[in-house]
Amino acid sequence: MRPVRLMKVFVTRRIPPEGRAALARAADCEVEQWDSDEPIPAKELERGVAGAHGLLCLLSDHVDKRLLDAAGANLKVISTMSVGVDHLALEEIKKRGIRVGYTPDVLTDATAELAMSLLLTTCRRLPEAIKEVRNGGWTSWKPLWMCGYGLTQSTVGIIGLGRIGQAIARRLKPFGIQRFLYTGRQPRPQEAAEFQAEFVSTPKLAAESDFIIVACSLTPATKGLCNKDFFQQMKTTAVFINISRGDVVNQDDLYEALASGQIAAAGLDVTTPEPLPTDHPLLTLKNCVILPHIGSATYGTRNTMSLLAANNLLAGLRGEPMPSELKL
Ligand code: NDP
Ligand code: DGY
Repeated sequence: MRPVRLMKVFVTRRIPPEGRAALARAADCEVEQWDSDEPIPAKELERGVAGAHGLLCLLSDHVDKRLLDAAGANLKVISTMSVGVDHLALEEIKKRGIRVGYTPDVLTDATAELAMSLLLTTCRRLPEAIKEVRNGGWTSWKPLWMCGYGLTQSTVGIIGLGRIGQAIARRLKPFGIQRFLYTGRQPRPQEAAEFQAEFVSTPKLAAESDFIIVACSLTPATKGLCNKDFFQQMKTTAVFINISRGDVVNQDDLYEALASGQIAAAGLDVTTPEPLPTDHPLLTLKNCVILPHIGSATYGTRNTMSLLAANNLLAGLRGEPMPSELKL
């Protein structure tokens, strides 16, 4: 019998057990993995991907023309363990006829839960309050001490009423939100009906919202969308939350808006760069809560994401329909 030619798969990081096991069961693949929890150095990535038929990557791996050239003509499938695809050079990938898998839906609930946690943490000033208890700043019950902003009867503006934006709105509804506003490329009347959400312009959303939640994808159109003009239009009592990507926000402008009291507070799960340097000016502000990109970080969700990423990759390599293929 002629030996079967194995397809080479390169995995750029240690991934959760379910995804790892699915790849290990694939008898038609020879899997090489960067066996670390830390990012792969660029040179190692170029070496590892050379000649690969399939690449399983994370959102921190930039798959650009240079990497695609290093991979060579064998590369048929790129599967990212993320719903965001802004780290992939999609035009270049499409030109080369490479299929792309990603992980929508399975992380929507976890990310919406985190968005809610971040919103409540920020608007009720929890990090400051916890610090006061620890450092002796809690001297008595005082009428205006540690006051923040409540959600009941408020107006919430959501930038991007997609899967995660809707899941956030669904969780916010029982808090007694008076009005939902949203922006996007076009109105989504069917989805918006559940929240009686109004499609508005970005300036109107900025001006009329008490809480703004950014849940859009990062594209050339959304890069830098939340800038000086945007923050100047916001209410001085408004709270800004970003769970999408750091580059949607101009961080220098956000710093100015927070430091000058132009807006009340911000909660960020995503920044530019990631990780944010520990001496970054935003970290000096009491009214800015920053998390290390943990939107989808539950054990269950990350396992499911890894399994979906593995199944996307294997289906793509075998010429089968992928469970979640990004249509290019
Ligand atoms: P969807 O594709 O369902 O939603 C994306 C939304 O972005 C859509 O509502 C879309 O609007 C909107 N959008 C696109 N372009 C614009 C624009 N120019 N102006 C305003 N809105 C725009 O994706 P998901 O909801 O599943 O995920 C959204 C993003 O969240 C991901 O791309 C990722 O970057 C981020 N994310 C972050 C996580 C974290 O850990 N913090 C976890 C998971 C995701 P339209 O309705 O017009 O198409
Ligand atoms: C994504 O999937 O895009 C998130 O940022 C991480 O889960």
